Amino acid sequence: MKKLLIINSSPRAAGSHSRKLTDVFADTWREAYPDSPITFRDLASSNIPHVSETWISAAFKPESQRNDDELEALKISTELICELKAADVIVIGAPMYNWSITSSLKAYIDQVLRMDETWALNRENRLDPYIGLLKNKTVFLLFSRGAEGYEPGEYNDRINFQAPYLRRVFNVIGITDIREVALNGAMFERDAHAISARNAAAEIRILIAAEFLL
Ligand SMILES: Cc1cc2nc3c(=O)[nH]c(=O)nc-3n(C[C@H](O)[C@H](O)[C@H](O)COP(=O)(O)O)c2cc1C
Repeated sequence: MKKLLIINSSPRAAGSHSRKLTDVFADTWREAYPDSPITFRDLASSNIPHVSETWISAAFKPESQRNDDELEALKISTELICELKAADVIVIGAPMYNWSITSSLKAYIDQVLRMDETWALNRENRLDPYIGLLKNKTVFLLFSRGAEGYEPGEYNDRINFQAPYLRRVFNVIGITDIREVALNGAMFERDAHAISARNAAAEIRILIAAEFLL
């Protein structure tokens, strides 16, 4: 039975569009796999720390050489990496903030991209020195964005640092099966019909994607 990890990163609660998308995913998943446990990680309330100098000195040396402070500095990172490794399917609710992602999601990424845990260094290949260590996982990126035109070839494509960045992050740690659903134009909420149509479209795509996983 596949294990699901759902990560939310919107600071908003009830009004969050990305949380609506992850809710749809969770509901669809529960219907398909009623006995499968779902782990939820809410980055808005997790207070993931920024990487510190101690964190850096700890992360790039073998565990046996780490002092107590260094072990402590990596504690949250280790917990988040264990959670990530345990999941078969990872769902990220990702609002676009300033053409990229929320700072809580960035802090999370800095904690889980760790040498010899999620990636290894290949010194032989200077062009692409990363070896991803996570295998057989699928990531769903569920985007919400205030404006529109961010899809490939559209007028805002060149300022979309959200989707390509997250793709890169998961590729580096070995995950190449990445599916994306975007809810664009959330700032035009007055047009309730357009928003609900987008929601419905996203929901359908998620349902189809979930079926593919069965
Ligand atoms: C601080 C901040 C920065 C934002 N930056 C962008 C942006 O660069 N591009 C965009 O299309 N929308 C932007 N938005 C709008 C959000 O992407 C949109 O409201 C989205 O639905 C937020 O996700 P949520 O509904 O899950 O909270 C921004 C919103 C906030 C609060």
